Amino acid sequence: MIEMKNIIKEFSLGGETIKAVDNATFSISSGEFVAITGPSGSGKSTLMNIIWLLDKADSGTYLLDGMDVTDLTDDEQSVIRNRKIGFVFQSFYLLQRLTALENVMIPLLYRGESEKDARRRALEMLERLKLADRYKHLPNQLSGGQQQRVAIARALAGQPSLILADEPTGALDSSTGREILGLLHELNDAGQTIVMITHDLNIAAGAKRIVKIEDGKISEADNTSEEAADESGTDDQDRT
Ligand SMILES: Nc1ncnc2c1ncn2[C@@H]1O[C@H](COP(=O)(O)OP(=O)(O)OP(=O)(O)O)[C@@H](O)[C@H]1O
Ligand SMILES: [Mg+2]
Repeated sequence: MIEMKNIIKEFSLGGETIKAVDNATFSISSGEFVAITGPSGSGKSTLMNIIWLLDKADSGTYLLDGMDVTDLTDDEQSVIRNRKIGFVFQSFYLLQRLTALENVMIPLLYRGESEKDARRRALEMLERLKLADRYKHLPNQLSGGQQQRVAIARALAGQPSLILADEPTGALDSSTGREILGLLHELNDAGQTIVMITHDLNIAAGAKRIVKIEDGKISEADNTSEEAADESGTDDQDRT
């Protein structure tokens, strides 16, 4: 699904150059649930922005669903982003003047679906996220967890190949956060590929695979896949 090779992204500021992503090579297969973790400033958001086609690497190659997306124009990037990727932000980013339903419809309308189809699909998604009775509500008339569910409905509505979530529980209290996390796991159990950024190691521990990033460098910290099974060492934590 995602294949990154030797991705480098640098920022220059006042004569100093920062390698925000330093020669990252990794791939993510369809159906995986991957957590990307690392300390503040380690390059998580920079990497996410490249995965999400919001930004471009300085060098390296990026294949998404087998398609080379390394060198697209901004317009091409937005089309692919709209079709293939659903994004869930920490602070939801719902449009405050639109209802829950309208917020979920937006990406569908953007890709040229009719109002009628977009509405039908958006209602289906809200129903799936148990928000059918809240579709007329504005974001500020919803709880934090409900707003995050609207944002997830919006991300899912276009049937993306990939859901990217940046600290999806960061703005929620811990029990609502657990509920949202459970929901992401349910979606993954149903086959949805999910990549989640989190600095919270407890949350990351629930993912099937953990990718660590430190000073822009990627390393895997993964005990659950077959190839890592024999190097799991002293980690006795009970995992399922
Ligand atoms: N536009 C920019 N210009 C200059 N430097 C930048 C820019 N964006 C990010 N950086 C630098 O690149 C590095 C990686 O930043 P990034 O935002 O990816 O970190 P992060 O892992 O997401 O951190 P956090 O957990 O705090 O969100 C940091 O050292 C940051 O200062
Ligand atoms: Mg960040």
